[in-house]
Amino acid sequence: MNVCVVGTGYVGLVSGVCFSDIGNKVTCIDLDQEKIDKLKQGIIPIYEPGLSDLVLKNINENRLSFSTDLTEGLKDADVVFIAVGTPPKENGEADLQYVEAVAKSIGEHLDSYKVIVTKSTVPVGTGKRVKEIIASVSGHTNFDIASNPEFLREGSAIYDTMNMERAVIGVESEKAGEVLTELHKPFNTNIVLTDVETAEMIKYASNAFLATKISFINEVANVCELVGADVTKVAEGMGFDNRIGKAFLQAGIGYGGSCFPKDTSALVQIAGKAGYDFKIVRNVEEVNQNQRFKIIDKLEAVFNNDLSGRKIAVLGLAFKPNTDDMRDAPSIDLVPLLQEKGADVFAFDPVAAENARKVIPGLNAVENLQKAVNNADAVVILTDWPEFKEMDLVQLKETINQPIIIDGRNMFEPETMKELGYYYSSIGRPLVDGRE
Ligand code: UDX
Repeated sequence: MNVCVVGTGYVGLVSGVCFSDIGNKVTCIDLDQEKIDKLKQGIIPIYEPGLSDLVLKNINENRLSFSTDLTEGLKDADVVFIAVGTPPKENGEADLQYVEAVAKSIGEHLDSYKVIVTKSTVPVGTGKRVKEIIASVSGHTNFDIASNPEFLREGSAIYDTMNMERAVIGVESEKAGEVLTELHKPFNTNIVLTDVETAEMIKYASNAFLATKISFINEVANVCELVGADVTKVAEGMGFDNRIGKAFLQAGIGYGGSCFPKDTSALVQIAGKAGYDFKIVRNVEEVNQNQRFKIIDKLEAVFNNDLSGRKIAVLGLAFKPNTDDMRDAPSIDLVPLLQEKGADVFAFDPVAAENARKVIPGLNAVENLQKAVNNADAVVILTDWPEFKEMDLVQLKETINQPIIIDGRNMFEPETMKELGYYYSSIGRPLVDGRE
């Protein structure tokens, strides 16, 4: 099939590359000339393992091309994906100006029948809006609209797409359903065929549910700390029940990233506009926002509420490991607050430092772990990067000024940390103090 993907952000780029890798001819379109020039050479603007190689492979095999010219992409396309950004507005609502602009351009250039699919996460009802725009601009209705939301995770985006657990296909005609089912056949996955509004809702409900699991376990963790229980064991005990499941029960300092914060607040907005108060999701957001500040409480507890002049090593800035994405990362709130409280912060992140500097003014990000921890009064873990787990804890103790670790991601076993002589405070597990 011939596929055109408009928007080369995370979702657009990964989808485009994967659709080409399973044998389609894909043209990816973006307005940004510089970005397109780089993509043509396999230079990827984001950090995503394996993506650059897959882009180059499919360019070389003549299935993937990049252009700023929408007419070129639309020519011969059977399916057009709209995968441009829907950033949150001040009030939490998704900003649809880019989606609407693309719909308008598609309308201006539409010549033959195409299935036009929104892949961006858009409020319920956007499909209809896109249809109206295209129909009014093009002056005909020789097209179908559809919704095909994306469920990929950053850091494992290619794996998630190639091994998708389901493809949600929301359509308004049988023909469009057949085209999109055919396109997804090589993924050998469960197809959920539905109407457009339902498909749009599935995306929000899925992300809000996952966010709910995280906030739920974080509240369980907070209670565990008060009653002397261990949240990791509680989660394990819960997870064996298939109805609950093991995934997304890792307590910590809460979720960040480009999806959960945005989609939960958009869902609250969508419900509100329809006259419904989505109480659970509102609380999920509030719990998540508060959870990150547990780090500060824990640090203040060990330093008698006075962080001034303390050298604090912050390990991890990105919202999760294997990404340089800083969107809604807890570090954005925590680093400035530590500095405000007089702490001397030395932060290290394997790949996110450059992006972090753009969103954390006055950030002191050093180039390696050693520089961050050297003579630190306490080490604070904000992101569960595998390389932090592999740290030599015996050597670390020699390097730091005081053997104090505040672990926002529960990376180590409290008992082991106690034996090694650390004061170790994590989330929802017993506080241990092995210092002499
Ligand atoms: C998420 C969804 O997983 C994906 O399906 C959707 O399309 C986009 O949003 P992503 O934001 O890339 O993907 O990251 P994910 O790996 O899901 O983690 C999100 C956040 O939740 C991270 O900050 C992570 O640290 C946190 N998290 C995750 C927890 O705190 N506990 C968990 O048990 C799982």
